[in-house]
Amino acid sequence: MKCIGFSLFVFSVCCLQLAELSTDKKPILLDRIRHDCVKQTGVDASVLERARKFDYVDDQKLKEHVLCVALKHGFVKDGKLQHDAIVKKIGQIMTDGVLAAELYANCSEDKGSILETAFATAKCFLKVIRINIL
Ligand SMILES: *[C@@H]1O[C@H](CO)[C@@H](O)[C@H](O)[C@H]1NC(C)=O
Repeated sequence: MKCIGFSLFVFSVCCLQLAELSTDKKPILLDRIRHDCVKQTGVDASVLERARKFDYVDDQKLKEHVLCVALKHGFVKDGKLQHDAIVKKIGQIMTDGVLAAELYANCSEDKGSILETAFATAKCFLKVIRINIL
């Protein structure tokens, strides 16, 4: 019995390591960020579902969720949009740094508060690049 227990232990350690190797860590990080922000803001599930389909309700908690996600990705820091971090990320997706910078110029708009600014900017970006980070 001891032997079986030990073998199972070795087996599970081995498989956990394999699982870790074969998983891209980014989606895990992304999921954790989304999950943490949902918990933190209490954003309504149906409002969030719509946002994930690029339909943005003017909702306070959704705005807080967007800002939360942006902060955790480093797209917002010290109450300001982070040009370099955003362009770098967009550039990875668009594979065209020039377009990424142009999109940033088109989308970043000071709305008076970082909450509104992050929301407006995120809406503008996500409608064009259609990635699901919320
Ligand atoms: C930025 O805005 C200009 C003017 O509306 C438009 O022609 C251009 O295609 C936009 N660029 C991107 C990357 O969306």
